[in-house]
Amino acid sequence: MQLIEKRDDAASRIEALRSQIEHHRFLYYVLDKPDVSDGEFDRLFRELQDLEARFPDLVTTNSPTQKVGAVPSTEFKQVKHEIPLLSLSNAMSDEDLDKWSDRIVRTLEASPEEAGQIAFVCELKIDGLSIAVKYENGVLVRGATRGSGDVGEDVTLNLKTISVLPQKLTPLADGSVPKSMEVRGEVYFPLSSFNELNAALANDGLPTFANPRNAASGSLRQKDPRVTARRRLALWAYFVYISDPHFAEPKTHAESLDLLAQLGLPVEPSCSVAYGIDGVKQYCSSWFEKRHLLDYQTDGVVIKLNDRALWPHLGATAHSPRWAVAFKYPPDEEDTLLEGIEFEVGRTGAVTPVAQLRPVQLAGTTVKRASLHNFEQIRRLDVRIGDTVVVRKAGEIIPEVLRVVMEKRPADAQAVEPPTQCPVCASKLERIGTEVALRCTNPSCPAQLQRRMEHWVSRNCMDIEGLGSVVLAKLLELNLINDPADLYTLTQESLSLLKLQKLDEMPDQKPNQKSAKKRSTKFEDKIVQNIEASKQRPLENLLSALGIRHVGTSMAEALAQRYGSMQEIMAATDLHSLEGAGPAVAEAVREFFSHPENRELIHKLEEFGLNMKGTEPAVKQVANSAIGGKSFVLTGTLPSLDRTEAEKLIKAHGGKVSSSVSKKTDFLLAGESAGSKLSKAQELGITVIDEARFKELLEGS
Ligand code: IVH
Repeated sequence: MQLIEKRDDAASRIEALRSQIEHHRFLYYVLDKPDVSDGEFDRLFRELQDLEARFPDLVTTNSPTQKVGAVPSTEFKQVKHEIPLLSLSNAMSDEDLDKWSDRIVRTLEASPEEAGQIAFVCELKIDGLSIAVKYENGVLVRGATRGSGDVGEDVTLNLKTISVLPQKLTPLADGSVPKSMEVRGEVYFPLSSFNELNAALANDGLPTFANPRNAASGSLRQKDPRVTARRRLALWAYFVYISDPHFAEPKTHAESLDLLAQLGLPVEPSCSVAYGIDGVKQYCSSWFEKRHLLDYQTDGVVIKLNDRALWPHLGATAHSPRWAVAFKYPPDEEDTLLEGIEFEVGRTGAVTPVAQLRPVQLAGTTVKRASLHNFEQIRRLDVRIGDTVVVRKAGEIIPEVLRVVMEKRPADAQAVEPPTQCPVCASKLERIGTEVALRCTNPSCPAQLQRRMEHWVSRNCMDIEGLGSVVLAKLLELNLINDPADLYTLTQESLSLLKLQKLDEMPDQKPNQKSAKKRSTKFEDKIVQNIEASKQRPLENLLSALGIRHVGTSMAEALAQRYGSMQEIMAATDLHSLEGAGPAVAEAVREFFSHPENRELIHKLEEFGLNMKGTEPAVKQVANSAIGGKSFVLTGTLPSLDRTEAEKLIKAHGGKVSSSVSKKTDFLLAGESAGSKLSKAQELGITVIDEARFKELLEGS
């Protein structure tokens, strides 16, 4: 290494080192995906330390040398948007759409015939939060929230944890990327993850998010980016501003969406070009019901004039451009009759009031039940049996009672008092600490046991197919199981007792099967196999299955990763230092393992052969394989594997996948119609392999 003598050279080297070190710390601490060895990292760090020692006036408090080992944390600096983020005017009806398009037709002086041919791009309006992400020379350099539209918050580190948002753009076929560009898009919380997150929060007695948009915003604006990383946010890009005189700008909005997709950004696939305002209306009505099948919440359609050259002619108001509009669907709310209130006991004993409703069609499904959350909510809403209530689908999955239609309250509407006894085992209910939930404190309450078992076998836990709630109830009733460990004692014979009791209580079977006897034997076999297979689930699944308070899927993952085995977690004395965990988690984990019956359960599970260890980092496992630690780039179409399969295989064998070819690339896996990546790899002398050779490498030859 050359010795740097000049202060200016030192300053620029120091700056470069700081940004490289910050980048590697982010990969290491936040994403758990380091891409350099510890040795290489130490070398960079020492070089920075040496330079700072020789030029002490260049030391700054935010230098990585001054905050050793600290986890990168967002500071939410303010960001002035170079181009303000405007909002959109709303169209609440077909008439509003007509008014919007009439103005365009007038401004463009289009004849009625031409008006019917105006091209509009229709995109689903994603209910999340808008962000602006800047790429310089193809590299993500900054991301900010919309904020006031003029000034937003710098959430770069948090945005970088969103796996679908590329940190580097995919170059186009000619190898180019815009020199500078800003992508606008919507960060959202997938509904499946939202419902999981809220269920976990509710179960821990913590406040839940009102809707996926709040959850997205709360998660993106976390101080600790590792918390954001665990929240599994996603994003759709819908806009691009390019500043590069040598780059051909897209002429239409549809082309700009294509360009975004080619550069590797996720673009919502339902977008489409419609002709004339009638075409737009058709698009809007075609998605009214269908949108509920998507894994993200949409509250309308954004319509943009396709020809970008026409935009300046239409102009904008202070808040919104005239070449775009947001068509809003009516809210998913309906009135219905509250026929009764049932009390349900959860797996931690929390008793939840559930509204029994006269069935009503809402967001594409029939709703008969809705959550009332807790008794404070019943009091706050003043809900009585016999009331007409407004029901809404919040996360589009769990409906909730919003309010009472007081004008329709009948004289005999019945107020509801909180129960004093558990509705299942009649034990006294208690309120623990400051929690709003009432809890049944009887650890052998059958309802709690049933819920605990349902949780144990659920998909994110031990994932045992075939053990539905009916089968579990039967097993509990026959005393064949009393705790999760008992599942591992079940045999075909003991399961056959269920069939002897009542065959029609088995889960649905396909009607075309031969005899009842034959099909249930097969079914029992399958359950035994599934139970056996569940012993190999990853440590984080087992941890989630235990149902420790405050330990949902993401916290279980964090614990498994940090400690690597059940033994280590049970013995840990530094749980409070686990980032994102906080004292409540540490206390809950400690408390759980302090109970002898829980320790005994773990012991029994271990005896039954359940996996108690986390997976070693893949690279270590396959240190000698031809793939471990190697960097791959994929291009073209492979004969039998699709791209995702190939990527999975590489990662499973400890390799890395990058989107673009560089000197660091070890292999280019190329299929048919490979493009510019192939020529670049050849230029750089990188080994190019086909699928057959790739398969040989997988086998370690
Ligand atoms: S375009 C000037 N496209 O809706 C262009 N916005 O009501 C402004 N949104 O603030 C945005 N999906 O947060 C656009 N496909 C989409 C969108 C979308 C959701 C949000 C965005 C915006 C708000 C406007």
